[in-house]
Amino acid sequence: MHEIKILGIESSCDETAAAVVVNGRQILSNIIHSQVPIHQTFGGVVPEIASRKHIENIVPVVEAAIHESGFDYRDLDAVAVTNRPGLIGALLVGVSFAKALAYGLNKPLIVIHHLHGHIYANMLEHPEIRYPAVCLVVSGGHTSLLYMKDQISYQLLGETIDDAAGEAFDKVARFMGLGYPGGPIIQKMAEKGTAGALHLPRVYLNSGNLDFSFSGLKTAAMNLWKKLERQGDASVNDMAFEFQSALVDVLVEKTLAAAKQYSVSTILLAGGVAANQALRDKMTEEARKRRLAVYYPSLKLCTDNAAMIAGLAYHHFIRKDFAPLNVNAQSQDSL
Ligand code: KG4
Ligand code: ZN
Repeated sequence: MHEIKILGIESSCDETAAAVVVNGRQILSNIIHSQVPIHQTFGGVVPEIASRKHIENIVPVVEAAIHESGFDYRDLDAVAVTNRPGLIGALLVGVSFAKALAYGLNKPLIVIHHLHGHIYANMLEHPEIRYPAVCLVVSGGHTSLLYMKDQISYQLLGETIDDAAGEAFDKVARFMGLGYPGGPIIQKMAEKGTAGALHLPRVYLNSGNLDFSFSGLKTAAMNLWKKLERQGDASVNDMAFEFQSALVDVLVEKTLAAAKQYSVSTILLAGGVAANQALRDKMTEEARKRRLAVYYPSLKLCTDNAAMIAGLAYHHFIRKDFAPLNVNAQSQDSL
């Protein structure tokens, strides 16, 4: 059968990315241009700057992805793009570009939900995954638990009622003056922290459902940090360790509870926070005790990229699930 080559484009936040993937599996190119150094100066993503940078970078990034794939634009079978959710101005750059390209090449256009892409990153590297599965989606904007009867169906079991896990990492890091993005910085500090030196609550752990809440933990962490600073007794490493542990403990316990409740033996992790080594290690360790399989994408595919978009788009392609050229970007969408 003819190989289906799809160009994926991702511009929902602060990464301009493009990739060419064959048959939803084989990554021919995966180009990511990160704007992190630009936004770092401001302590977070500045939406207007993000849009402008996407405009500057989208052509060279797509050109590089095509070039590296070894194919030509004309060899593509479809153009896929993240159209939701994300920063609206940022999304619009990718969506407008993809529409124009699809129109110019006379190829079908496919639109992808950013979080579905994150989840699909698992399939790019672990085709052996067995369904049904429970998937923990943890990113800068989302924290959700899903039941997946197959690789492209998503049933929401629970989600955060306030802050997302990544948002909590970022806000606490910012409060402690550690910089942006907070997740990787806190992880690094936590590696030098001492277990048990400080204590923070495992917020919402016993809520009796599969929802999460991180705003209480964030406030508790900020209050504890203020108190330690006043006492002249503030260890960044211990604080990072305890905050990360408190968050990871809740994520792991609730995911295991979901797996038990829905009798599944596969757990998937997805989204930027799934790059967290403490989360990966604890989930793997606890799952092993219960004979459950845990999968997560490699670091490059865990954070924002376009290979996950091009990969998932293949499943839309085979169902002829194409988007009209007047399709829009959407800043919000549920999972
Ligand atoms: O998925 P992603 O790249 O973008 C969104 O779709 O939101 O996730 C970004 C989030 C940020 O909040 C960042 O702090 C967090 O992922 N993150 C991490 C790590 N790497 C990225 N959080 C904890 N530990 C990490 N190693
Ligand atoms: Zn993302």
